[in-house]
Amino acid sequence: MTDRVILWTRVSGLAGESVEVRWRTAADRNMRIVLQQGAFRTGPHRDYTVKVDAKGLQPGREIYYQFEVGDRLSPVGRTRTLPTDSPETASFAVVSCANHPYGYFHVYRDIAHRDNLAAVIHLGDYIYEYGVGEYATERAEELGRLPQPRGRLLRLEDYRTRHAQYKSDADSQAMHAAHPLIAVWDDHEIANDAWHEGAENHRQDDGGWDDRRDAAIQAWLEWMPVRVAHNAASTRIFRRYRYGDLLSLIMLDTRMHGRDRQPDARAQATKESIDRDMRDSKRRMLGASQESWLQRTLRHAQGTLWQIIGQQVMVSPTRSPELEPLLDLERESLLPAEQLAGLIEQSEGNPPMLLDTWNGYPEAREDFLKDLRDYADNPVVLSGDLHTSLAGNLIPDGGSEAVAVEFMAPSVTSPGFAEYLPEVRPGAVRDATLELNPALQYMETDRRGWLLLNIDRTLCSGEWHLVDTVHEQNYIVSVDARWSVTAGKISEGLQPSDSS
Ligand SMILES: [Fe+2]
Repeated sequence: MTDRVILWTRVSGLAGESVEVRWRTAADRNMRIVLQQGAFRTGPHRDYTVKVDAKGLQPGREIYYQFEVGDRLSPVGRTRTLPTDSPETASFAVVSCANHPYGYFHVYRDIAHRDNLAAVIHLGDYIYEYGVGEYATERAEELGRLPQPRGRLLRLEDYRTRHAQYKSDADSQAMHAAHPLIAVWDDHEIANDAWHEGAENHRQDDGGWDDRRDAAIQAWLEWMPVRVAHNAASTRIFRRYRYGDLLSLIMLDTRMHGRDRQPDARAQATKESIDRDMRDSKRRMLGASQESWLQRTLRHAQGTLWQIIGQQVMVSPTRSPELEPLLDLERESLLPAEQLAGLIEQSEGNPPMLLDTWNGYPEAREDFLKDLRDYADNPVVLSGDLHTSLAGNLIPDGGSEAVAVEFMAPSVTSPGFAEYLPEVRPGAVRDATLELNPALQYMETDRRGWLLLNIDRTLCSGEWHLVDTVHEQNYIVSVDARWSVTAGKISEGLQPSDSS
């Protein structure tokens, strides 16, 4: 906020007892010009995490902070308060999908080296819930990144242990120590393809869904430096930040708050039941109370030039290309033949891509786009989850003009299409998807990375910083593309830009 910020750490190596942690903030990296200090008691009831709300700070400042337990000092962290006035520019790093066992967090390291970021925006899948031998753990042993605990996450202890493993990563620590974080969860903080009453990766013998969800949320609240409204009945992660009069950042919960079940997740789903669900205008993505909150918030945000909507999943209406013509069957396959045949069959007739995204909620998406058209001046939607870099114009059904644009952040490590379907010719999914979906302007599926969002009084630009590998220690990062939209000309959509 403009006058306070969450300072987070965790005390390791204690068992059973509670402990007092002293903290201080300073205006300088050497911690000489002390601004505030205090003490915080932590213990096993909160897994030894420390979350201090440092109040009474000046707006628009860089703040340094440090913790002390006994005679032990933590490293110094850097954070920031939001400005109040009329800033000319703002930059954010946008990330999603950091699968620890699948690769190194080079992306976090690259972001840590940046100096001029207002914050890192994490769109979710900050952890993954899988156990050894499950999704994207093939390389875990070779990389020294076997999941802890070894099994799927079900209970509070499991989720705490997994968060601890992710935060023991040196690159993650460097990113957190360099910038404030604005985070929302997606599904994997809880379980794959979650909705408000269940998840694909929640089986009958896993125990009660509510208990598992509450355990996952408790661990997330303990282990993430977030300020969200929380009580026994609900945790509200949708919230708004104001960056002077330049922009509003509106974070949404498309996952847990009000999401109805995915059309293909219904027991014994058929083509007919999926079609029926897709046409059902009562099925929601945000839920009624979040939708009316969004309308109110967009109206109040009209005093800011840009309205940036941070949310989890792909919004652009997207049809899947047919898979068969894209295959080179000479190439090696990772999938059993019958699974590949199933994927080929599913892609026939160009169905909507991935019904866990807004593609599975077309009626709710139309309402969302109408709200952006009616209540926002210059809306830009952020998304992640697909392990793909993407930019597109958001055009309501039957319309011809963009009402917003979408910038999608690629994954930090999680595998893209090509890694599971090596028999697809390189670039073929990208080329076919762009051709089939003309509102999409840019797509890259092969490399992992992060999205740099640069905002000024004229332009909002996305710049995709991609790494060449997450499986080797050494890596090269390069800018793959830049796309921008002009304030007051959202209807003209995205333009390629060659300088930043
Ligand atoms: Fe993901």
